[in-house]
Amino acid sequence: MGDWFSVEGDDALAEGETLAVDMEGVPVLLVRQGGCVFAMENRCTHDGSELSGGQLENGVLVCPHHGAKFALKDGEALCAPAYEPLTMFVVRVEEGVIQVKDERW
Ligand code: FES
Repeated sequence: MGDWFSVEGDDALAEGETLAVDMEGVPVLLVRQGGCVFAMENRCTHDGSELSGGQLENGVLVCPHHGAKFALKDGEALCAPAYEPLTMFVVRVEEGVIQVKDERW
């Protein structure tokens, strides 16, 4: 199992917002929706562009480039032009700090 990395203060991510951070060189997008924090690699699986600036719709992140939609709960690609899921990370909030872990490591 990988280590937890502290990436941002909890108060830096408001409800309904996204925030790009770095996890030891890996671009990560944090999302807070419905009181939950989600963390995913900040690369769309369509062409690798950043997901920063994407709109949030009820449990879904919309890529700002060509409109692919991804489920926040598991990264599943919900519509074209993306067909592969996002890489999702485990996230927790400890003592006011958002921490992320890549369980692939
Ligand atoms: S880069 Fe995300 S849909 Fe094309």
